[in-house]
This record gives sequence, structure tokens and C-alpha cells, in this order.
Amino acid sequence: MLRIVVMVSGGGTNLQAIIDAVENGAVRNTEIVGVISNNKNAYALERAKKHNIPAKCISPKDFRSREVFNEKLLEEVNAYAPDLIVLAGFLVVIPPAMIVKYRNRMINIHPSLIPAFCGTGYYGLKVHEAALHRGVKVVGATVHFVDEGTDTGPIILQKAVEVQKGDTPEVLQRRVMEQAEWRILPEVIDLIANGKVSVVDGKAVISD
Ligand code: GRF
Repeated sequence: MLRIVVMVSGGGTNLQAIIDAVENGAVRNTEIVGVISNNKNAYALERAKKHNIPAKCISPKDFRSREVFNEKLLEEVNAYAPDLIVLAGFLVVIPPAMIVKYRNRMINIHPSLIPAFCGTGYYGLKVHEAALHRGVKVVGATVHFVDEGTDTGPIILQKAVEVQKGDTPEVLQRRVMEQAEWRILPEVIDLIANGKVSVVDGKAVISD
């Protein structure tokens, strides 16, 4: 059974997609053992509680320094003994020690087809604003392993979504969530839970 901790900062629609997929069997051999948010008002915490999943808030604002927060965050994550950490809209910089400890055991969902519209400053609606400003015809989402960079780890799965005439950033964001994020994030978790993902020469490989 794959023990996963999901880390969130906002509405938690990706967390909900994971919860639903675990409950309906689309994601096999997996248990969500904890949800952690840096934002005490994150609706994602409510979603976890509704499904009796242990949930807690750990905010940098509550610590005298980032270093002390980083230590506490890693301590709290380790306490769940996770096999996999899922960053689902988590907007806090991951402590370097956590990246090392969970190398190739921590994944992130990014709302673009990496390497497009990613890296520092590209998050949430800003990604879709940039895509519309550039005039791309295809966008999408990416699930990747987390490394020391920003959105730079091995890409595991991507899904493309068409830009439609008249799209606003909000409309495009919702389509990317519905048609891509909420599908590929659970799919990657199921693949990992069933031993189908490995990293070879810095590239993620999915076996049949
Ligand atoms: C999603 O757009 C995801 O791609 C990005 O942050 C957002 C989180 O949304 N990383 P939610 O909290 O899952 O609704």
C-alpha cells in the first residue's frame, strides 16, 4: 500500500481528484495518510477533514525563521512515514533537505506543458495569462518529480488541452484542470503505487 502525503495551499481540487480516485478504485494500492497546508484557510483542509484524512496547517508565519520552519515541516512530513509526497498547488519553497530525502518520491502538478510557462513566477493563473498572451494554441499540464530546481525534475506524464477562441485565463485554467490535471495526477499516483515508474539517466520511464 503506497502511503501518500498531499501538500496543498488553496482550494484543493487536485486533492479532491486524488481522494475521489482512491475511493472509486481508479487509484489502486494507495492510502492518503495526511494532508499538510501552509495556509490555515485552505479549503483543501476542509476537503481532507470531510474524508477523515488527517490534516494540519504548518505555516512559515508561525516560526521565527525559515530554517526553523523547514526543520518542522520535514519533521511533520516524516512523521507520516510517506512513500510518496504529492505537491498539489503547494506554494511554499520545499526545504532542500526534503528534496534530498524524498528524491524521486516527491511529485508536483504544474498547469503547463513543461518546459513552457514554468519556473519562477509561473504559478496558478499567471501560467494561463502568459499562455494566452503568447498566443499558443495548445496548453496542458505536467506531473514531474521534484528536484532542486523550479519545475525542472524528470517529467512523468503530460496531457495537452486545446486553447479555444475567447478563452479567458480563468476559463482556460478550469479546462486545464478538468481535462488534464485532475486526470494525470491520479494516474501518475496509480502508476507509482503499482511500480510502473522509474528514473533512468535523469528521465522518468513508465513501464508497461
Ligand atoms: C493547480 O492549478 C495546480 O496546477 C497548481 O496549483 C493549482 C492548485 O489548485 N500547481 P487546487 O488547490 O488543486 O485546486
